Amino acid sequence: MKSKDFLSISDLNSERIKTLITNAAAMKAEGWNTRLSQKILALLFELPSLRTRVSFEAGMRQLGGECIYLSPDEVKLGKRESVPDVARVLSRMVDVIALRTTSHESLEILANNADIPVINALSNVEHPCQALADMLTIYEHKETLEELTLAYIGDGNNTAHSLMLAAALCGVDFRIASPKNYRVDETILKTAQQYAADSQSTVLCTEDPKQAAANADVIYTDVWISMGQEAEKQQRLKAFAGYQINSQLMGLAKPDAILMHPLPAHHGEEVAENIIYSPQSVVFDQAENRLHAQKAVLVDILGGSEILLPDLR
Ligand code: CP
Ligand code: NVA
Repeated sequence: MKSKDFLSISDLNSERIKTLITNAAAMKAEGWNTRLSQKILALLFELPSLRTRVSFEAGMRQLGGECIYLSPDEVKLGKRESVPDVARVLSRMVDVIALRTTSHESLEILANNADIPVINALSNVEHPCQALADMLTIYEHKETLEELTLAYIGDGNNTAHSLMLAAALCGVDFRIASPKNYRVDETILKTAQQYAADSQSTVLCTEDPKQAAANADVIYTDVWISMGQEAEKQQRLKAFAGYQINSQLMGLAKPDAILMHPLPAHHGEEVAENIIYSPQSVVFDQAENRLHAQKAVLVDILGGSEILLPDLR
């Protein structure tokens, strides 16, 4: 990591992200160990979760460490107690914090006031742990990260931001098709374009899902209504009509293209009914890889023993 924290894919560089992906693959093969014995992770969640919570808890236990889950009602971050005070208190008791929040600003304040590392377990701006698991999943299925095109169809949201940055750092060509008012953040796009220039790959934004999907190796989508956006449901359903991943759109990608989604999925909205159960779908591999990718992050961030593995090619 460039800093003590993992708040964004931009906390990594091209070498670090590849090392983390390689280490995650090693973690998958390795199983249980004691690399993080006597370490405690606090999970501070202001939003619901299945994958992120369970993968952090199971991951910490598989590494010989402990986990404490703090639900939204327990801490009431910034309401019952200020974010800096929560950071100071937790820094005296645990070794690392993972925060899930709709306020990326709270995440940054927490990290700036904590003496211990803070991990982004999803914010309104990024979902970096998801992007690491996604790159591992692509690597496993394609056996390379070179000369690949990843097409993301849908909302320019937290998942899209982290995935775009990760693809650009890894040298994967990235295309994103979103409706006009739901494009990725311009500043994050510029950062991704710089990374892409360095890794000799490309980042393309379009409003046309067919242009994005054409001949792609990976078709990726996420929900149209993210956590915290429930009030915008009707307007979003209208805006995203035509952006659904269905067999017609999959037919434009390469015959061996894989279908990805971070889950939970809304069947009949961003994905056609049953398409995530088709042979091209790797969504449950992605879900499993959250566990392995986060174990690699935890070991990296807590300075666990060096993992020696072959380089990613
Ligand atoms: N993909 C993901 O982050 O899932 P959860 O919201 O269930 O943690
Ligand atoms: N974009 C989604 C991702 C969920 C894993 C959300 O923020 O709700």
